[in-house]
Amino acid sequence: MAAEIIAITQQKGGVGKSTIAMHLGAAFHEKKKRVLVVDADGQNTLIHWSSAASDDNSGIPFPVVNLSEAGGQIHREIKKFVNDYDIIVVDCPPSITEKVSGVVLLAASVAVIPTSSSPADYWSSVGLVKLVQQAQVMNEDLRAVFLLNKTEEKRMLTRELKVALEELGFPLLKTQIPTRECYKQAMALGQTVLQMSDRGARLAAAEIRSCADEILAML
Ligand SMILES: Nc1ncnc2c1ncn2[C@@H]1O[C@H](COP(=O)(O)OP(=O)(O)OP(=O)(O)O)[C@@H](O)[C@H]1O
Ligand SMILES: [Mg+2]
Repeated sequence: MAAEIIAITQQKGGVGKSTIAMHLGAAFHEKKKRVLVVDADGQNTLIHWSSAASDDNSGIPFPVVNLSEAGGQIHREIKKFVNDYDIIVVDCPPSITEKVSGVVLLAASVAVIPTSSSPADYWSSVGLVKLVQQAQVMNEDLRAVFLLNKTEEKRMLTRELKVALEELGFPLLKTQIPTRECYKQAMALGQTVLQMSDRGARLAAAEIRSCADEILAML
């Protein structure tokens, strides 16, 4: 069976697209899925991240490829891999003016839209919803979910944002990803939190696994 393509996309920069893409890849890999993670962003965060480990054994245990040069043809490049993997996770660039996110969405089964609690994230989610809806005209199987990242549950704004996001028309994953220092450490070490053993990383790993389960249930 051809791989399911999961697009991690949001117009706004810095919401955690690359962090979520790499960690979902790690959780799917742990569940014995054949995973490919695609770096579709010219900043190449995932390529740098996957080459940051101090040795071959401690690094990212699945392939990460750079397709950021493919631009509006990226869906054709991704299709070359679909017979060799179960899941392809694509880290999209923080822009919907270039064609990349739009064409990835045409090939995807699920769009995961990370957002934090800032109003600016909400406003850019509105633009992303339109992009997903345009893609759904051609790709009827495409589903989309919001994922709250960098949450601080006690803050009122987060609760209000949750309601506002749901009103945009796509569901919100039950699992939220709190702000945890271990995500930055993982990136610096060339690892994911699933490979780290301190308490924060163990809590983070459980949250990531639960997110991955919710997404797998959508496929
Ligand atoms: N849940 C989290 N807790 C703490 N730090 C986080 C979390 N998620 C992401 N970060 C940090 O926030 C910064 C931005 O994250 P990331 O690079 O994943 O965002 P992005 O949306 O891919 O950014 P860009 O739009 O520039 O590609 C990074 O330093 C990352 O380590
Ligand atoms: Mg990124």
